[in-house]
Amino acid sequence: MKQTIKDIYLKDKRVLVRCDYNVPIKNGNILDETKIVKSLETINYLLKENCSIIIMSHLGRIKSEEDKNANSLLPIKDVLKRLLTKEIKFAPEIMSEETKNLALSLKPGEILLLENTRFLDLPEKKESTYNDDVAKFLSSLAEVFILDAFSVAHRAHTSVVGPSKYLPSALGFLVLKEQAILDELKEPVHPYTVIMGGSKVDDKLPIIKSLLPKCDNLLLSGGIANSFLYALGLNVGASLKTEDSTIIEELKNIMLEYKPKFAFPMDAVTGVSYNETINLKNINELNNDDIIKDIGSLTIQKYSQIINNSQTIFINGTMGIYEEKEFKNGTIEIFNALKNSQAKVIIGGGDTTSALNNLGFSNDFKYVLSGGGASLEYLAKDTLPGIEAISEADNIETLDL
Ligand code: 3PG
Repeated sequence: MKQTIKDIYLKDKRVLVRCDYNVPIKNGNILDETKIVKSLETINYLLKENCSIIIMSHLGRIKSEEDKNANSLLPIKDVLKRLLTKEIKFAPEIMSEETKNLALSLKPGEILLLENTRFLDLPEKKESTYNDDVAKFLSSLAEVFILDAFSVAHRAHTSVVGPSKYLPSALGFLVLKEQAILDELKEPVHPYTVIMGGSKVDDKLPIIKSLLPKCDNLLLSGGIANSFLYALGLNVGASLKTEDSTIIEELKNIMLEYKPKFAFPMDAVTGVSYNETINLKNINELNNDDIIKDIGSLTIQKYSQIINNSQTIFINGTMGIYEEKEFKNGTIEIFNALKNSQAKVIIGGGDTTSALNNLGFSNDFKYVLSGGGASLEYLAKDTLPGIEAISEADNIETLDL
């Protein structure tokens, strides 16, 4: 059964919270604080319950010592301090006696932030591959565990699924909110349109297959669209695409089965690999060295029309390389169409949310999810390992340290 933060006794407890502070960061400067702001509801609730709080999160992917230097959670500590207007303690070494002492000596209302959980991936992958000793150690820091990181709940990582094995556990407000938004898509108001971009079709194929029976339209862009077009026999030049013959066969079969639901780019803004020429071309006129970098005006028109006729829309991905000014127009125009539509629009997190913020649409949408990968996996499977772990947490094991 789903255990929520409202169902669990929290008064005066020491609470371990898994947040997702995997924010874009450059030279120690946080470029987008959205995820941190979204975590405040749970933290403030715990403060009201007179809890002491231990917060943990990952940041980036840690494969080398240099990755560690670039991905410390120290800058997050400063943001939390500013947003909560209170001192935040910091534990630089997760698995240490010092951290344990810091956690156990917290007074009600005090907050301790642990260093990046993925630092535990060096030298052995003790975070990204489940490690029971780490799970036990993390659990020993607190009396209750709250999972408030929907956007990483698709990873069965130690800090996500571990503590609920040993502590009374519940889902935080952010997880509950994002889960509720996606649950509404189980029975969407039709016409229901899914817009999907991204580089690799291989990753998204299972999700596409699970969404096609439910949606009325599937609008594609990026490497995913290119792969389908390539499977249809079109020359997509040097654009990103799959060349795996098994996948190409599968794409052909899916297109046969769901033909009327698919919408592909009809034209593209292209560049070539060896100079900066930019062209607008019909999709069936590309040369071998053309690289598709954005959708063109005909596609914008067609996609906007479908958006306009929809009642529910889920979007994950952008239309082109929106970070470069020559190739951001398609994404901007599709965001404009979404903004002006009457449909319920759900923004599927990750890169899409960063694009919204970067292109000036940060206040235009009500349903903005924090995680792309997690949202897609939840749509496909109706659950996530992190959420499952909390549901199974009725039978917690005794912590015997
Ligand atoms: C995200 O930003 O989507 C989540 O934090 C997950 O990050 P990951 O893909 O590095 O696991």
